[in-house]
Amino acid sequence: MTDAFVHAQSAAAFLLAQTPLRPRIGVVLGSGLGAFADDLLDAARIPYANIPFFPRSTAIGHAGQMVIGTTTGVPIAAMQGRVHLYEGYSAQEVAFPVRVFAGLGIRAVILTNAAGGICLEYKQGALVVISDHINLQGTNPLVGPNEERFGSRFPDMTQAYSRTYRDMALQSARKLGKTLHQGVYAGVLGPSYETPAEIRYLRTIGADLVGMSTIPEVVAARHMGLNVLAISCVTNMAAGILDQPLNHREVLETAERVKGDFIALLQAVIAEIAAALGE
Ligand code: HPA
Repeated sequence: MTDAFVHAQSAAAFLLAQTPLRPRIGVVLGSGLGAFADDLLDAARIPYANIPFFPRSTAIGHAGQMVIGTTTGVPIAAMQGRVHLYEGYSAQEVAFPVRVFAGLGIRAVILTNAAGGICLEYKQGALVVISDHINLQGTNPLVGPNEERFGSRFPDMTQAYSRTYRDMALQSARKLGKTLHQGVYAGVLGPSYETPAEIRYLRTIGADLVGMSTIPEVVAARHMGLNVLAISCVTNMAAGILDQPLNHREVLETAERVKGDFIALLQAVIAEIAAALGE
């Protein structure tokens, strides 16, 4: 992926040729959360398979297309599905779509995911704004020679998750009368779910949520100076909290159940972020 810059530019040029819209915000929709992009207006829907150099997702619950359209009048690029490290993709490949967002001229990204709830205050179906992360994935998309056209060798991560955007999300939820938590996301490799002992360990080190995605995208976004908002849907309580096994069906069912709240929150916060980005 030493040509990642050129590849991202070429994927972005391809996408821009499919639509007159110029997206301002990039959105990644996690497992079971893709429905948001079904309602975009004036939408161009482009399968990942058609986009040059774009990785294709294999996970169940991921449609695998880029939708460029508008919501509340704001042009956005939304990914229905992402690829994961556990599918065998490198961290660079997982982060590539965010490189393409930057190539589209996007400066703000919203990443969403399904996650296990570690914090005992969360209930299944809770929405949580990620305030920070702990990278336990054993890799990083910036490993290898640094591409200076993206950013510097050692990017700062102190405000990986924009405080301004988090405040906007919390305010949007308040206006909608919905509860929105804030928490720390531990990113693991997967694909097996955690053991109960691993969940106790994650709680001890300060994690509120656990999931298998998002971190490579955040790191690549910050490398390029993009601002990040990330929202998790607690699709299940993490292993060992409830006396029951975890399964992917439950993850998709919970995501389906909170779809309405999730879409309303995304629409509201996109309007806020777009207003803050200005013209
Ligand atoms: N663990 C890891 N990833 C997940 C989980 C979980 O419990 N739920 C959804 N994604």
